[in-house]
Amino acid sequence: MTTTLRPYDPIDLSSLTFWQGPPADREPVFDQLRRERPLSWHRPAESALLPEPDPDDPGYWALVTHADIVAVSRDSDTWSSGMQYGGVMMESVPEEILEMAHSILSMDSPRHTTLRKVIASVFTPRRIKLIEDQIKAQAAAIVDDLGEHGEVDLVEAVSARLPMWTISEMIGVPEEERRVVTDAANAMVCWNDPDFLGDNDPLQMMFDSLLILHGRAYDFCQARAAHPQDDLISALVTAEVDGAKLTFEEIAAFFVLLSVAGNDTTRQTTSHGVLALDRHPDQKKLLLADFEGRIGPAVEEFVRWGTPVLTFRRTAHKDTEIRGQAIAAGEKVVMFYHSANRDGAVFTDPYTLDITRNPNPHVGFGGGGAHFCLGSNVARTQLRAIFDQLLRRLPDLQVSGEPEYLPGNFINGIKRLSVRY
Ligand code: HEM
Repeated sequence: MTTTLRPYDPIDLSSLTFWQGPPADREPVFDQLRRERPLSWHRPAESALLPEPDPDDPGYWALVTHADIVAVSRDSDTWSSGMQYGGVMMESVPEEILEMAHSILSMDSPRHTTLRKVIASVFTPRRIKLIEDQIKAQAAAIVDDLGEHGEVDLVEAVSARLPMWTISEMIGVPEEERRVVTDAANAMVCWNDPDFLGDNDPLQMMFDSLLILHGRAYDFCQARAAHPQDDLISALVTAEVDGAKLTFEEIAAFFVLLSVAGNDTTRQTTSHGVLALDRHPDQKKLLLADFEGRIGPAVEEFVRWGTPVLTFRRTAHKDTEIRGQAIAAGEKVVMFYHSANRDGAVFTDPYTLDITRNPNPHVGFGGGGAHFCLGSNVARTQLRAIFDQLLRRLPDLQVSGEPEYLPGNFINGIKRLSVRY
């Protein structure tokens, strides 16, 4: 059967309106798909970045079960992340953006393997241990700034601060450049939010942000090439990959990836975690009763519960099959991580927040395999530090208004969350 003749599933995961509103509203839809049609075929995702749908794009298969997402994530021989197929976003993204922003995320082996190795050398447990004390001190300073009583937007006052600080330290972004880098990184994930966008054109906003980030990255590369220091940019300008140095463009693209991947995700997990504990006071009590003993599994449960990254795509390198359905080379699958993290075949009572859940094989950091989140241990360290400060010093902190959610099919975002303490 040719893909164009295949009927689309009656459930439309591709419309922008489906991705507005609270994530809980979408859960029954994914429940139904997991139960009735674990593999379903959909029209191409609508995109604010490409006003005209691509007439050559037939659509994609939706993967909603834990088993399928893990299997595809771990089989890079069959499934490509590469830019030659348009990369990993659910919707089509202009090629220039992929090249400037995605780096290793939208790359296949052997280049992915080699580049990831260089980058991973800066994410070793020893390096993270070195930065851990600074992360703890920074988390303490953020909670100091809250004072003893007050009402604030948690996202701005707490969740957003630690991730960007950590990334800036690791990369080596000078203090005076951090604001401008953070704002540009935010714009990279908020372009589909009408509140954030105002009268701006989404594509223009994306390009403007990319130009800012690339411009800064070039300056950092030049400075570090002349005077290497103990940071990621220095490691990258001096590294040799396949006998050649990385170009400043390649380093800049990685800088954009990190500024986005390492920034928004941990921020969202912090907000989702605070909201989840507020809605489940028994779990908060349990955590406070033995913080050291329970924070490890609690952080994993916050990542499962919040699933900050909602989707990534893969494209078949070669003919294959899933659940007996033939899939031709060139066809796409979209992995719905949030759905896999609610899959009753793997998680007992998936809709129950259980901070003691163990094992907790969530796919919040990806389903395993070559692209598994490079920053997962950095994220865990940050989340431990911020929850330690928030819960121990402000144990009566309460959510004081309804959360406002970021629309979109990529980041499961909370834009604002009022809290009182
Ligand atoms: C709770 C926080 C985070 C979540 C939920 C998250 C989630 C993810 C996911 C789902 C992927 C794709 C995995 C795949 O395709 O199999 C990924 C990749 C990646 N993440 Fe994270 N991430 C988080 C924090 C971070 C942090 C703090 C950093 C950096 C310091 C980071 C850096 C990266 C990089 C560089 C990749 C690309 C890896 C590759 O393609 O080889 N992430 N992350």
